[in-house]
Amino acid sequence: MEVNKRIEALRAEITKYEHYYYNLDNPLISDREFDNLMQELIKLEQEHPNLVTIDSPTQRVGGKPMDKFPDYAHRHPLLSLDNAFSFAELLDFDQKIKKLVPNPSYVAELKIDGLSISLIYENSQLIRAATRGDGLVGEDVTLNIRTIKNIPLKLSEDISRLEVRGEIFMPKKDFLKLNDEQEEQGGKVFANPRNVASGSVRQLDPSITAKRKLSAFVYDLLYIEGLSLSEQVEILSYLQKLHLPVNDKWQLCNNIEEVYDYCLKYQELRHDLPYEIDGIVIKLNPFSYRSQLGETAKSPRWAIAYKFPAEEKETILNDVEINVGRTGIIAPTAILKPVSIAGTVVGRASLHNFDLIKEKDIRIGDTVLIHKAGDIIPDIIRPMGEKRTGEEKTIHPPTNCPACNSLVVKFADEVAIRCENINCPARLKESLIFFASKSAMDIEGLGPAIVEQLVKEKLVSSIDDLYKLNHSQLLELERMGEKSALNLLNAINVSKERPLHKLITALGIRHIGAKTAYTLAEHLQNIDNFKHVTEEELKKIPDIGDKMAESVVKFFAEPRNLETIESLKAFGVNVVQVSINNKTTLSGLSFVITGTLENYTRKEAEELVVSLGGKVTNSVSKKTNYVIVGSEPGSKAEKAKELGINILNEPDFINLIGKV
Ligand code: IVH
Repeated sequence: MEVNKRIEALRAEITKYEHYYYNLDNPLISDREFDNLMQELIKLEQEHPNLVTIDSPTQRVGGKPMDKFPDYAHRHPLLSLDNAFSFAELLDFDQKIKKLVPNPSYVAELKIDGLSISLIYENSQLIRAATRGDGLVGEDVTLNIRTIKNIPLKLSEDISRLEVRGEIFMPKKDFLKLNDEQEEQGGKVFANPRNVASGSVRQLDPSITAKRKLSAFVYDLLYIEGLSLSEQVEILSYLQKLHLPVNDKWQLCNNIEEVYDYCLKYQELRHDLPYEIDGIVIKLNPFSYRSQLGETAKSPRWAIAYKFPAEEKETILNDVEINVGRTGIIAPTAILKPVSIAGTVVGRASLHNFDLIKEKDIRIGDTVLIHKAGDIIPDIIRPMGEKRTGEEKTIHPPTNCPACNSLVVKFADEVAIRCENINCPARLKESLIFFASKSAMDIEGLGPAIVEQLVKEKLVSSIDDLYKLNHSQLLELERMGEKSALNLLNAINVSKERPLHKLITALGIRHIGAKTAYTLAEHLQNIDNFKHVTEEELKKIPDIGDKMAESVVKFFAEPRNLETIESLKAFGVNVVQVSINNKTTLSGLSFVITGTLENYTRKEAEELVVSLGGKVTNSVSKKTNYVIVGSEPGSKAEKAKELGINILNEPDFINLIGKV
């Protein structure tokens, strides 16, 4: 087959599979098969760059970060809607319609709580996407919208021009996951999925938007060339036929009573939906009356939004509890007077961080307004200043860790405060698991289950205690036989000989992964040199940025960490960088990485290989020396087998670089 035919066939197939996967929730092929098609297309496009088109599924993320979004003047204004808060107000709306329309039928749709957007297709290709803005002028956010996987870059039918309106949103589960990650990394948390959607669409760097799990529904036709549609029902079916994402919960209602039933139904069911809705949009189904009904200054008279009552409650903030998380983040939790909201009784809510408390000016004793973020997690919206008595107490961040009393630390780029003591009891299990992991001290047999027991039985209360363990102590642990106890002791002993970069990795210093640890160890050679090095000196080392330098200095400024290091030394743990001529070890060797690795991101693994003098390429050829295979590898692993190339699993790979 000619290359361009194959490319076109692949694009059509991939676009179809994306539609089934993202819009119909009905994957037609396995992820693996999908991946293979995508890889084939990427490869062909790389070989024939002149054949790349903007509607190719490979072209979702592209373009450089912008300084600012250009303005976009809407050809068709994006109106907003009047609100109804009760059945009486819906009846009122219906009465006004009935003055003109006998027996009106309505389409009731879910009102998705997101960000309104207009999508413009020309010759079936998505050529522009703009935010609503003030309804007349919005921002051109095309590059960001292209990254949203359920928005087709190409329509399934030939259409010369189409303009549709829809909503960008983040599903609840992705919102909750993102907030968890943000919190774990000491970053800001988002108040609700709408704020994330809006913040993500307005990121100047499309690659950031691409990482957020955004989705879209379209619900309104603003313009179509050469076709006349006469009902909202027809529009929704037609948009769906074009493979645009249409929410399938809409319903045709024969009268306003049916509309109200629908409203009540989804007021009940809203918490079971995977995305947030804040009401129901009701649209007169036939179009013929729209122009006669006309519009007020900002909203059409043929549609209305029924808004659900806000699920917000007032309660009292009785106290604030301060806890240290497993990564050392010190976080405040609100202890609330229990109150029932959206189906559960809420007595606690995360206050996230002390910056937020200050920003919102939340005080102990305040009456606070709460809701459920992402429909699930209790969250304080704001204190009700008007209800203050003057007795309320300001909340101050602690100066010392509540678990180990170390001085707390705040990094320049974070909102969180942290305990930097690697042996803090709150952090200890995490510290130990990481210390023993493959990319760190590589202590075979010391996994989470054993760590759990060692800490519980108080055999280990700091990292260095590992090197104190004896055979009989280990034998006391559950399911620990004679032989495994000996093996574990041996593994602990062997780990004393690891080069310094492994130890630096093992300390779990923020922002210092395996590769950076290696760079630092190579430059500083001995752990003692880490104690007095300044941020300025560190920043002079190639690849060491501000955050990394700050983090190293803060870690070694904590007296308890210095004690731990002295103790490790006393147990005979190696603290110097054993200098074999490392840099050339992988020199001349070519690697391909496929699948997901456990200890490294793809980028980290690549950087590691490169830092050791090796080369990483995308495709397997006879020139490839090693293929590193993670879980769910792609076709590259098979190709390597065919060509008889060395295949390394992750432990083999770590072994190879560990030897360095
Ligand atoms: S129709 C002229 N349908 O709700 C009518 N809007 O003020 C245009 N929204 O800004 C809107 N789901 O962003 C319509 N199924 C739906 C909707 C919806 C969410 C948003 C839209 C608009 C706001 C209403």
